[in-house]
Amino acid sequence: LSTTEVDLAPIAEGQIVTAQWRGKPIFIFNRAPKDVEAARAVPLKDLIDPQSDQDRVKAGHDNWLVVIGICTHLGCVPIGHQGNYDGWFCPCHGSQYDSSGRVRVGPAPLNLPVPPYTFTSDTKITIG
Ligand code: FES
Repeated sequence: LSTTEVDLAPIAEGQIVTAQWRGKPIFIFNRAPKDVEAARAVPLKDLIDPQSDQDRVKAGHDNWLVVIGICTHLGCVPIGHQGNYDGWFCPCHGSQYDSSGRVRVGPAPLNLPVPPYTFTSDTKITIG
């Protein structure tokens, strides 16, 4: 299948689940308000790959972060709720990503990419 449907209803606040889309892990993070606030408080000039949190989520669904779970360094799968930025830690060479999936500590050069997806209802997304 080229698209993946995900039911968001069972994902608790603060929880990250991993879905699969075209053979790739997709991280879906139901961010707590503090996670969103932390992501939005960071000056863009402090980022390795500057991108605003607002540009990485869907307006009106700001708590939901959906990213491709493949480290942009050499392709390992980062581990959620680890590292110093409320996001992910890559066990291969130590890159860290924040609560917006943006790289904060290298060697990874780029943020975790946001896949194409749409909300088909308040509690459902279709990826792809
Ligand atoms: Fe993630 Fe190298 S593959 S830091």
